[in-house]
Amino acid sequence: MGIIYNEKRKTFSLQTKNTTYQLKIGNLDYVKHLYYGPKMCDEDLIYLIRQYDRGFSGNPYDSLQERTFSLDAQPQEFTTQQQGDFRINSIEVQNADGSFSFNGRYKSHRICEGAFTLQGLPTAFATEQDTVDTLELVLEDAVTKVQVTLFYSVFFEADMIMRAARVHNGGNGTIQLKRIMSMNMDYLNGADMDLISLPGRYGLERQVERQPLTHHVHKIRSGRGISSHQQNPFIALADRSANEEYGSCYGFSLMYSGSFLAEAELDQYDQARLVMGINDRLFSYAVEAGEDFDTPAVLMTYTHDGLGGMSRRYHDFFRNNLNRSKFVKDVRRPVLLNTWEAAFFDFDDVKLVEIARAAKKMGVEMIVMDDGWFGKRDDDNSGLGDWYVNEKKIRCGLTKLVQQINDLDMKFGIWFEPEMVSEDSDLFRAHPDWAMEIPGRHAVRSRNQLALDLSRKEVQDYLIESVNRILDSANIYYVKWDINRAITDLWSNSLPADKQGEVSHRYVLGLYRVMDGIIKTHPDIMFEGCAGGGGRFDSAMLTYFVQYWSSDNTKPLDNLKLHYGSSFVYPVSSMGAHVSEASPMVPFETKAAIAMCGTFGYELDSTKLCEEEILACKKMSEQYHKYYDLNFFGDYYRLSNPFEPVNLVAWETVAKDKSEALLTVVTVNVTMNGPQEYIKCKGLRPDLFYTVEGDGNVITASGTALMHAGIPVPREIPEYTAFLYHLKAVKD
Ligand code: DGJ
Repeated sequence: MGIIYNEKRKTFSLQTKNTTYQLKIGNLDYVKHLYYGPKMCDEDLIYLIRQYDRGFSGNPYDSLQERTFSLDAQPQEFTTQQQGDFRINSIEVQNADGSFSFNGRYKSHRICEGAFTLQGLPTAFATEQDTVDTLELVLEDAVTKVQVTLFYSVFFEADMIMRAARVHNGGNGTIQLKRIMSMNMDYLNGADMDLISLPGRYGLERQVERQPLTHHVHKIRSGRGISSHQQNPFIALADRSANEEYGSCYGFSLMYSGSFLAEAELDQYDQARLVMGINDRLFSYAVEAGEDFDTPAVLMTYTHDGLGGMSRRYHDFFRNNLNRSKFVKDVRRPVLLNTWEAAFFDFDDVKLVEIARAAKKMGVEMIVMDDGWFGKRDDDNSGLGDWYVNEKKIRCGLTKLVQQINDLDMKFGIWFEPEMVSEDSDLFRAHPDWAMEIPGRHAVRSRNQLALDLSRKEVQDYLIESVNRILDSANIYYVKWDINRAITDLWSNSLPADKQGEVSHRYVLGLYRVMDGIIKTHPDIMFEGCAGGGGRFDSAMLTYFVQYWSSDNTKPLDNLKLHYGSSFVYPVSSMGAHVSEASPMVPFETKAAIAMCGTFGYELDSTKLCEEEILACKKMSEQYHKYYDLNFFGDYYRLSNPFEPVNLVAWETVAKDKSEALLTVVTVNVTMNGPQEYIKCKGLRPDLFYTVEGDGNVITASGTALMHAGIPVPREIPEYTAFLYHLKAVKD
């Protein structure tokens, strides 16, 4: 059992294989947070909390003359509202009588087997290899009867805790949620903590930023209706001394694809608080009497094995517990060629078959027909929403086109952007009110398109029906699901004025319903997500998509940084990465080595390659398959940081049984007459000997030598050379 309730002490100890999380029903039935860290036995850690009379920090009325208990100074599991705690809070509710107050105290709890699920929101699931138990802890406000249930699913083997909150309106009138976070996390001492986030922009997503937690509110957020290129719904709190291998790190991944918020604060007593959930900006949600509101889930982990240890936890969990598609583990994903950078909108059926025929010689196994095959779509100004084949371009029809590709023994993939509409489209002409636009104003255009109001059921149903019709009309193996703008003009024609604050969240719920209706009903199709690159790359999306297009930026050197940042939380098997014509000074082989730190593919016009390039690509495609298991299922190690002025960028994937590893080294700078550089491996078995091949030399050395002395990387080489070192354990 991963959850121990000690009735006498009123403590709950959530035990995973290597961690303990403890909370306690404390003074006046407020639930206190006591500990999250390395595993402990079932002891009571209440001794950690000292109470003092703190000036200007008030005391709950029923603590009577006792002035040492203040919610402003105590670590809590979930905050109250207007009960004297002035720090960032988890809930802001306007009660039926107009008051803003929530005084949640322990009401009841239950412990059950399995992982919790949420209404309309994705969650992680238990695997057969793991034991999962859930604690449901109910806090209630005695006056309003508003309840907040805190969920904790404890994934024992995975060292992961999934959290969420459910608000139940147990009163008689409607309440308005102005802010409701999925979780609150308090630390007794946060003075030496750093906050790590993954900011970016279109074309350069998920860069790494690390900053000390200081005495103000740090906000990591997206208000763009999508989890966004600019911030990712993942943060880590790490000891200032924590590095790749050592030190305490706490990771938090929010399973939500819309506007989100993470706030962290170092308070007046150097305690730290973190909350994470739906962005409260432009948010207000009515919960009627007797109704529930569910927050999205957060996946939380702790490790003292540094940032690398934290990342590997997430990689394993994301590969095992998010997505049941057969393409996660059981069916190998094919080498694909995507037509976007090859042809943009300028293609027809004949050209596609030509591309496929040439690509076949490169070892490509699937052709993906990107944007431009439907409605009237010769550029990005029209056609979105009209999900029927443009027979001026695909003259033979879709079924026949797919057949021709299949006849080459290749698979066929197709692109959609279901959530959007062009003003110049049949859909918009028929249903202008389906687009998001505030009455009396013109909607913001972005890429010259508008967002559909996915909060509306009829819009959801239209999308499910029209996309499924295409998917069922031909032998489609793969879908790329794109979205190319942020969501603005929050307004739904189907909701009354006082419910417009719900639109942003309802859009996300609608999106999940549409994806359920398309993706979950097509288990034999492999789905890749995309948001103008990686603008909605989050753990909720990975419950639907086995991989996510990392970025529209296919420049290999930028991708070194992109992969490095993404790898903080997302596994290699989830990051779409292609070899393209961008950056001609970088050799094809190096581009391929970099794209193999992701789900390998091509984004170029195969008909324009010379014989030599075709053969080089063929070798690269074979290499992708050769190292597929290592790359997709191994343990990933970052060996150098491309954000620092390094000459070599390196990473490594080690098989779970440590019998082999793949080490990739990319030379980003060659200094004249410089020192010999060594790359030190990680994660090998110290006592095993490995043969190392990859730069023309063959070395045999122990794991100890390879990890502590390293591998000398050849010096007299052109810049941007990549080495793929294969390490194979020598049999005893
Ligand atoms: C943005 C995507 O990221 C690209 O790969 C491509 O699919 C275009 N959209 C098509 O419009």
